[in-house]
Amino acid sequence: MASKPIIAPSILSADFGYLAEQIAEAEQAGADWLHIDVMDGHFVPPITMGQQVTRVCRQHSQLPLDVHLMVQSPDGMLASFAEAGANHIHIHVEASPDPAASLAAIRALGCKAGLALNPPTPVERVLPYLDQADIILVMSVNPGRSGQAFMPDSLEKVRQLQAAIAERGLDTLIQLDGGIDASTLPAAHAAGGQAFVAGNAIFAHPQGIAAGVHALRNAALVAQH
Ligand code: DX5
Ligand code: ZN
Repeated sequence: MASKPIIAPSILSADFGYLAEQIAEAEQAGADWLHIDVMDGHFVPPITMGQQVTRVCRQHSQLPLDVHLMVQSPDGMLASFAEAGANHIHIHVEASPDPAASLAAIRALGCKAGLALNPPTPVERVLPYLDQADIILVMSVNPGRSGQAFMPDSLEKVRQLQAAIAERGLDTLIQLDGGIDASTLPAAHAAGGQAFVAGNAIFAHPQGIAAGVHALRNAALVAQH
């Protein structure tokens, strides 16, 4: 169990004209990781960012870079993301022909290995890999864009995952991605979530980025008590 909930701003919601300033503001406000949403136009329709943006984040931030590969063929690009500065690399169980091999390859590059699953994918698909992954990334929206509503069905998956992880005595971390804000985070935390990706709740917060980070941090602290 992580000692404190981890807040991971998703730069997908940032203003890319001011990316360095915006990630600095998130970091100064106490964000824990930076989440980088890589979409290839195949696994999901949009094409977003890749190694070059990862490198820019590396140059402008000390935070662990949490790279989420929403791509159809992740294996051939793992090394280049590690080289660009990724600290964690998530692949999708729906995309990898051999998730165990992909996770082992990520670890061999010195990164933490994440395994993501989409809302329609049953939790049983990832259970065989709990000891080969450092993080399970539970999608609480269908991947493709920021600003969608949190899907409450994901909470049951988190509970099942937490039970399986505890039963096996593992320390695999559970991360949620999609629709996380100050109102949805507490239930996600109570279900067993330890790391929380947030795009719009941080970068589109009406009082600004720092206020968005603080609101999530407060929601996480309240949920702990
Ligand atoms: C969705 C991405 C998410 C997204 C989250 O495909 O994987 O990381 O940016 O954005 P919000 O928090 O606005 O749902
Ligand atoms: Zn993501």
